[in-house]
Amino acid sequence: MANYSVAKLYDILLYPFLNNIRKKTARIIIQLDPKSVIDICCGTGNQLEYLKNTDIRLTGVDLSPEMLKVAKHMDCFQQDARNIEFPDNSFDLAMIQLALHEKSFDDQKKIINEAYRIIKDNGHLLIVDYEINAKTKPHSRYVINAIEFLAGKEHFRNFREYHKNECTNKLINGNLFILEKKIFIAGKSMALQIYSKRPTKFRRN
Ligand SMILES: C[S@@+](CC[C@H](N)C(=O)[O-])C[C@H]1O[C@@H](n2cnc3c(N)ncnc32)[C@H](O)[C@@H]1O
Repeated sequence: MANYSVAKLYDILLYPFLNNIRKKTARIIIQLDPKSVIDICCGTGNQLEYLKNTDIRLTGVDLSPEMLKVAKHMDCFQQDARNIEFPDNSFDLAMIQLALHEKSFDDQKKIINEAYRIIKDNGHLLIVDYEINAKTKPHSRYVINAIEFLAGKEHFRNFREYHKNECTNKLINGNLFILEKKIFIAGKSMALQIYSKRPTKFRRN
């Protein structure tokens, strides 16, 4: 994220696009009834805002000090999602929203492994990210491609690579997480996926 002014505008500019997604995500999280939630790559902490009137202990981590300045009234910390500074089994639920598609496959793997480590056994991982496919509404496809192109060369390359790798299909190892539910949202341009963590003792070697 370039600077604080851009970070401050992030929620305002994306509100029309993200508000319904944030609300849906919050509803699903509340139904899962976690006591503690971590938003990995939380950005401005906007998704956590939608949960602030609950009893859930809310935490966020992000690398950008500019984004975190906007989230300053919440428990959001500057940490690298590839190397999270929380102990094993710390949270009932972790979410990663709109953050995997912009990273290299190698970094995505590290983040998923970290999520696995800090989620409690039988806890949940919730991923919300692009999933452009033949069913995506054409205008959503054009708008998203344009946004991702304008986000920069590396960002766009990773976005395309993410789709070549079938989004989360090659990334999420069934030995770590079991897919419970997948819902297509935002004109079928995104997927909201709920995974449960396979408890460490039941992992196949
Ligand atoms: C597109 S934004 C999404 C933010 C937020 N999840 C949302 O839904 O609005 C991606 C975020 O990932 C953060 N990020 C990128 N690399 C990171 C890393 N290695 N560790 C933690 N955060 C990272 C960026 O700073 C940015 O805030």
